Amino acid sequence: MQKIRFDYNNMTSDYLGDEQGISVKELENNAAIAKKAFDFCKENAGKGMMGWTELATSQDEIVEDILTTAASIRKNYKAFVVLGIGGSALGPIAVFQALCHLHYNELPENKRGPKFYVEDNVDPERMCALLDVIDVKTTMFNVITKSGATSETMSQYLIITDLLKKALGDDFAKNVIATTDAQKGNLIKLAKKEGFKTYYIPASVGGRFSELCPVGLLPAAVLGIDIKELLQGVRDMQELSTSDDYKVNAPLCSALLQYLSMQKGKNISVMMPYADSLKYIADWYCQLWAESLGKAVDFDGKVVNVGQTPVKSLGVTDQHSQVQLYTEGPFDKVVTFIAVDKFRSSYVIPQGLPDFPDVNFLCGNDLATLLNNERVATEYALTKAKRANRTIYMPEVTPRYLGQLLYFFMLETAYCGAMLNIDAFNQPGVEEGKKATFALFDRKGFEEKKAELQSAKQKTDKFII
Ligand code: PA5
Repeated sequence: MQKIRFDYNNMTSDYLGDEQGISVKELENNAAIAKKAFDFCKENAGKGMMGWTELATSQDEIVEDILTTAASIRKNYKAFVVLGIGGSALGPIAVFQALCHLHYNELPENKRGPKFYVEDNVDPERMCALLDVIDVKTTMFNVITKSGATSETMSQYLIITDLLKKALGDDFAKNVIATTDAQKGNLIKLAKKEGFKTYYIPASVGGRFSELCPVGLLPAAVLGIDIKELLQGVRDMQELSTSDDYKVNAPLCSALLQYLSMQKGKNISVMMPYADSLKYIADWYCQLWAESLGKAVDFDGKVVNVGQTPVKSLGVTDQHSQVQLYTEGPFDKVVTFIAVDKFRSSYVIPQGLPDFPDVNFLCGNDLATLLNNERVATEYALTKAKRANRTIYMPEVTPRYLGQLLYFFMLETAYCGAMLNIDAFNQPGVEEGKKATFALFDRKGFEEKKAELQSAKQKTDKFII
């Protein structure tokens, strides 16, 4: 089996020196912590909020249903719009960008499926802009919300169903697919009342771990992406990570390195793919890493305030904006590069300036060579400056390797959460903001929160300029 590869040479003291690098001895001394984290994840796989570990092996029927639905949508609709936010949007966006043409929506109709949009904000300008370019009558709306309570998504639901009812009358329900929890929340009740086609988000799968359930699989299938291959990639990574030995289990090793890096004060994790197709993998990763690991208390109730701040970056673009800081700023970052061995397209820089040797050296090289050489050069510059960095190599950006990559990061996150002794699967900080929004709108049941908000210290003019 060909697989993604994880190179962590540039995290080690062999390359960074003792102060910034992690030694083989240090890794060995912490092997028991890695093993404990592995055991914890193994014991809890499929239980509690770790249902995501089962998704690659438990969805055969759902996948067939999704493929049938997707084929019908591809035939009958001109656009497919996801209404969702956070974990209900970032996966679909990342997979779309990774596996579809980079200007997919602009392709002629015979070279693509329905136009694709993910509306993960409630900016009124954005909603109006969307409505300027789609015809609701020929658009399928996939409303995705696990809780069925998220204000952003439910506002969009109200707007869209109002427009659909006006345009299609009683037939409006055929333009809506609900993806939500099977029991809880408003969307499932509405889906039953209105008769929407419905897919379920398993109760044991949290938003940021949901890309491999219908949240991600339906949009991907509508785009013509081979979702069976995506899930095969997940199974590959499961096979590759059955050992409790960090030396052979790459996600476990990766988690251990981050855990030890945090102890050295490296509290920022920069995700820097060197491929436009992987640009939004960094956004998806940022949510996964931030919401999972940014926690106030540990399992013992001790205040720990842990977490590594994720930062998204894109090579080579951000070499010209952020890399100066990464090379010379504080020693507080781990940079993860994602490299692609073989790009789907190739473009050779033409000959043309023999009298300009300072430019001519580029001629005859493929753009992919330029991109990859720039990554190697950036890795070198960071390592020379003793800045921790590591590289994940993807042989190609295909559904299978992408499945491997997504699952690598999910496992890394779960292992790292276990090492930190925190609950990586809740998000009390996000819930707090959601509840405060409900209170601001005087939603019933949130009176106490409203009173709490009102009793918060009022702002004075003194600090407003
Ligand atoms: O990871 C999470 O749980 C969150 O980011 C949610 O995905 C996000 O808040 C959206 O929630 P919901 O799917 O319930 O609308």
